[in-house]
Amino acid sequence: MRLLIKNGTIVNADKSIEADVLCENGKIIEIEKNLKPKIVADKVIDATNNYVIPGGIDPHVHMHLPSPAGFSSDDFLTGSKAALAGGTTTFIDFVTPKKGQLLDEAIKERKLEASDCLINYSFHVSPIEWRDTIANEIKNCISNYGYISFKVYMAYKSNIGLDDDVLLKVMKTVAEAGGLLVVHCELGDEIEEIRNDFARKGKLSHKYHPLSRPSLLEAEAVKKAIDMAEETSCPLYIVHVSSSKSLKYISEAKKRGQTVYAETCPQYLLLDNTKYKENFNNSAAYIMSPPLREEEDNEALWKAISNGTINTLGTDHCPFTLEQKSAGKNDFRNIPNGAGGVEHRLTLLYTYGVLTKKITLNQFVALTSTNAAKIFQMYPSKGLIEIGSDADITIWDQKKVSKISSKTHKQNCDLNIYENIKIQGEPRFTIKNGEIINQSLYL
Ligand code: URP
Ligand code: ZN
Ligand code: ZN
Repeated sequence: MRLLIKNGTIVNADKSIEADVLCENGKIIEIEKNLKPKIVADKVIDATNNYVIPGGIDPHVHMHLPSPAGFSSDDFLTGSKAALAGGTTTFIDFVTPKKGQLLDEAIKERKLEASDCLINYSFHVSPIEWRDTIANEIKNCISNYGYISFKVYMAYKSNIGLDDDVLLKVMKTVAEAGGLLVVHCELGDEIEEIRNDFARKGKLSHKYHPLSRPSLLEAEAVKKAIDMAEETSCPLYIVHVSSSKSLKYISEAKKRGQTVYAETCPQYLLLDNTKYKENFNNSAAYIMSPPLREEEDNEALWKAISNGTINTLGTDHCPFTLEQKSAGKNDFRNIPNGAGGVEHRLTLLYTYGVLTKKITLNQFVALTSTNAAKIFQMYPSKGLIEIGSDADITIWDQKKVSKISSKTHKQNCDLNIYENIKIQGEPRFTIKNGEIINQSLYL
């Protein structure tokens, strides 16, 4: 398959140029202004007035995540359709073993679950406990599968979260293996205490979810993770940063020269905790961890993505239906945590970041694709429009205006935390490995 993209503006993280792009066998083989290919293309896209950008890379999604209220409502098939509809051609999900299960066995199981995924995918692998063999298991993830990132949780201590002594050992091990530690930063024991205290006092409505997870406990976890990573020389990637207090520690660590990367998500830039003031049915979609914060946090995060303190925009895509959320109608501790967003990441950042001039178009590409490609060792195959790179390309129509709605989205969920939000810009075509993904596939 040979695909020629004509008359577009190629936007990379470092520069934008007017040029045509020729793809063959899944790779970009020529880039030139007014390209006259020696070979005949099977398909030509006229990208006049469109941006030609590297396919989005979402470094943080949870498809088919088990919870006591059932699996998150997007599986790898429906979730990847939604991702494509939003211009994302690669995502990174998670391998979370059961207690006692070998990482290798858990990876094999998860790969089967992902076998109908329509886009490129990789995994962060979670060591959820310590055992003698774990160092070798971690090394094998890198050498056998090329999975270089390992996800640990400082919260959720009753099932997958790690105590500090284990966290320290995992950090040492990951550092020695040449990997990267991905971390959910919230102090689990303190949160558990607050949750149980609320429960004892009969404070069980959804309104207590955000109160049980204050931003200070995120920031203190961020500080602790950074300190431990420094002690063990372990490269660190902090997921879903939601609070301005956390940013202070991240920025100080970066200034000291420590390898610390940070991610935020559109919900923490655009939404705030007033969403929890509504009744259960109208608030349930927003129950996630960390919870939505204050407007000041939104503003601080916008500054942080613009000045480089935050490196990537993930979604933490983890939707649950209203019926699933209702498992916790009478006790907030039973509400499955998470919300969808894989479909809207690019358009939200474009509309509310680029069009408002908070970030440049090149930063938009860096935040949605290039930086994740570099951090997770996919660059320059991915995250770049260049000769020799993979032909994962989004043709971005910067004029298209619409509104987000659960009635029209491709995500498999009756809830959408961005319901009714206006957006401008959407993919005209999403191209994965040189193939235009037929729009009908995700209609
Ligand atoms: O509420 C959330 N974020 N659910 C997904 C799991 C996680 O903590 O990332
Ligand atoms: Zn998390
Ligand atoms: Zn997550």
